[in-house]
Amino acid sequence: MIVYFSGTGNSRYCADFLAYHLEDQAVDAGQYLKQGIQAELLSGKPWIFVSPTYAWQLPRIFADFIRESWIQGSKEAYFVMTCGSEIGGAAKYNQELCRQKNLNYRGTLEVPMPENYIALFSAPDRESSEKIIKAAQPILEDGCARIQRGEAFPEKKASAVDRVKSGPINKGFYTCYISAEKFFATSQCIGCGKCEKACVLNNIRIENNRPVWGKNCTHCMACICGCPLEAIEYGNISRGKRRYLCPAYKE
Ligand SMILES: Cc1cc2nc3c(=O)[nH]c(=O)nc-3n(C[C@H](O)[C@H](O)[C@H](O)COP(=O)(O)O)c2cc1C
Ligand code: SF4
Ligand code: SF4
Repeated sequence: MIVYFSGTGNSRYCADFLAYHLEDQAVDAGQYLKQGIQAELLSGKPWIFVSPTYAWQLPRIFADFIRESWIQGSKEAYFVMTCGSEIGGAAKYNQELCRQKNLNYRGTLEVPMPENYIALFSAPDRESSEKIIKAAQPILEDGCARIQRGEAFPEKKASAVDRVKSGPINKGFYTCYISAEKFFATSQCIGCGKCEKACVLNNIRIENNRPVWGKNCTHCMACICGCPLEAIEYGNISRGKRRYLCPAYKE
């Protein structure tokens, strides 16, 4: 079974790709998170956990989701991490997660996809995004072939720099940078409520026809990138920047 978390659609795209090629089912962790229910998952096929990379690790919210879910059936677990550039030393943490869940760790596949983190960087334009997504397809196909043969994903050796990025920098990043404080809606907002629906953490509520952000944010970028009027900003850093949603799911 493929279990995915996705803010702006890249990881959903990879999960759907894997589901199609492996004739398996893709399950959205976001649905469970949004409803606040514990997942009870049963599958005889290997587990394939698909998600973005947040500060060179799985997003904490997704690692916690896996940790807290009831997972039965197959003992094999693969990880597919989409990223804007690279996953650093994430594999070690996925291995540890498998140890905690009593699953056999079968490797982590790094899949470069378009950058979505507009609260820090810039997203590529549509043409570049499509090229990046096309280049991801053979990586995913190779991943599928390995899963079908029962092979592990090839493991890249983490350098000292990778270990620092996924270790102390990851910790510092969550403490110092991940916060909803800088989000606000501009006068373009029409109070449609799409951002409220998009937030899997239920961190947005509409008050007086305007979104208000709470304190429980994971910086998934679903609200700011999904607003149909581009009426959400993150301080000044997002001003004038392109919003990114995976083209496969852009309405
Ligand atoms: C909070 C946050 C942190 C990120 N950290 C990394 C990172 O450490 N390395 C990287 O290559 N990409 C990083 N990215 C980019 C995303 O991992 C990448 O664009 C991913 O494909 C987005 O997936 P999604 O569309 O399924 O949400 C980060 C994005 C966000 C929002
Ligand atoms: S999605 Fe955009 S327009 Fe709709 S309520 Fe949210 S900020 Fe306003
Ligand atoms: S507030 Fe926005 S960025 Fe934060 S978790 Fe919700 S949708 Fe994602």
